[in-house]
Amino acid sequence: MASAHNAAGHDHIDSDPGPLYQEPWIRKLLQQIQICLQMNSDWLGIDLSRPQRILDYACGNGTVSSVRSATTNPSHFRAIAVDTSKALLPAFPKATFQGIDIATSQVRRYNDEATKLLGEPHHRMFAIQGDLYDPQAVLNEARWSGFDASIISFALHHTKDPVDMLTRLRQRVRSGGTVVVLDFLRQSPDTAQHAEGKDQKYHAEDMVKLTQGMKIWPGFTMQDIHADMTSGGCVNVDVKVFPEPVEGPEELQGYGRIFIAKATVP
Ligand SMILES: C[S@@+](CC[C@H](N)C(=O)[O-])C[C@H]1O[C@@H](n2cnc3c(N)ncnc32)[C@H](O)[C@@H]1O
Repeated sequence: MASAHNAAGHDHIDSDPGPLYQEPWIRKLLQQIQICLQMNSDWLGIDLSRPQRILDYACGNGTVSSVRSATTNPSHFRAIAVDTSKALLPAFPKATFQGIDIATSQVRRYNDEATKLLGEPHHRMFAIQGDLYDPQAVLNEARWSGFDASIISFALHHTKDPVDMLTRLRQRVRSGGTVVVLDFLRQSPDTAQHAEGKDQKYHAEDMVKLTQGMKIWPGFTMQDIHADMTSGGCVNVDVKVFPEPVEGPEELQGYGRIFIAKATVP
C-alpha cells in the first residue's frame, strides 16, 4: 500500500532500509537519538503517575522505544549515564509503545526487538504496518487514537508534507497530550524555498535527492519547527538541540545537529 505521498521515495510497504543500519554514522546517530530521548525524558512532561500510551510513528527498528545499542559503549558517551539499550522503556515503566511504520521489514524488526527485550507476549511494545497518509481500517480502532504522546523520530524529513503529517499525528493524541519530533536541525532558513504566495508550505521540488535515490527534506530550522507544529494545531512548542554533532556523509553537510521538539495538543 504505497501511498501517493511516498511515491517519490523509498518509503513504501516493501522497502527495506536494513543495509543502512550497517553504516557507522547511522549506528552512531541511532545512539545519539536514544541518548537525546533519555536525557530529555523528564522534559517531555509525560505524566508518569499512570499508564501512558505512546505512538511511535514511523517507528523503524524501535530506536525510540528500545533498540539495543548498535555499538558498544563508545567513550564519547561515557560521561552521560544513560542506558542506550532501551531508549524510553525504562523512563516510562508504565507506558505502552505502539509503533506504526510504512515498511513491513521495519515492523518485523520492531516486533523482534520487543520479543527480545520483553519476551512473548509483549503488550508494552508492538508495531503494525501503516501510513497515516493512507490509513487502513485498523487505524480507526480506538486503540490507535487518544494517545498520551506521539513521537516521530527522524521520519518527518521523509514525509511529503511535514505540516500535514504533524496535523495527523496531533489528531491521534488526546487533549493535553504531547507531540514530539526528533530530526535534523537545519541552520539556513531555506527548507521550503517554493512556499511564497502558496497555500502549502512544502513542495516536492525543495526535497533533496540522496545517492540512494530517496528524497528527503534537508532538515528543519528552528523557525520551521515552531511554525510547523503550530500549523499542525499544537501549542507551547519548545525545542532543545542535542549538544553533540552528527557525523553524516558529505552529501548531508548542514544536517549536523539533532533537535528534539515537544508541543501540547490543546
Ligand atoms: C530514518 S527511519 C527512522 C526510524 C526510527 N523512527 C528511528 O528514529 O530510528 C524512517 C522510517 O520512516 C518510515 N516511514 C517513512 N515514511 C513513512 C510514512 N508515511 N508512514 C509511516 N512510516 C514511514 C520508514 O519506513 C522508516 O522506517
